[in-house]
Amino acid sequence: MHPANTPEETMTLVTWEPRLATGYIIVDKQHRNLFDLVNRLHEALLAGKGREEMGPTLMSLAAYTIEHFRMEEGLMTNHKYPGYTDHKRKHDDLVGQVNQLTQDFDAGRLTLPLTLARFLSDWIRHHIDDEDQKMANWIRSKGLV
Ligand SMILES: [Fe+2]
Repeated sequence: MHPANTPEETMTLVTWEPRLATGYIIVDKQHRNLFDLVNRLHEALLAGKGREEMGPTLMSLAAYTIEHFRMEEGLMTNHKYPGYTDHKRKHDDLVGQVNQLTQDFDAGRLTLPLTLARFLSDWIRHHIDDEDQKMANWIRSKGLV
């Protein structure tokens, strides 16, 4: 056994940490699914998978990200969260970037795929830590859940 060099350790880009939990089961479940999708994209990139295999992985990640953002936005509007506009703008910015990336991929212009996986993992982690925790804390502080 060489624990320092297991496939999991070398392939996994983002690892779930307890401090990322917001306390909302559906939000946390979807965040973990997003991490899994980013890791799958990263693994496919490291394994040198071709465009035919990369395409569906990238599309699943893009579609799931949009679905997840809609769910969070619904949660925020239901609870009349005052930070909704700022939070949604951040979602919209990422969706715009992901759409651009998928268009570039389709056009064969995507040249830095590993940078892309790292960008997505950093964005998601930072966003959960900051915006999503603020949202969850606010809802909790109002005793709405
Ligand atoms: Fe969010």
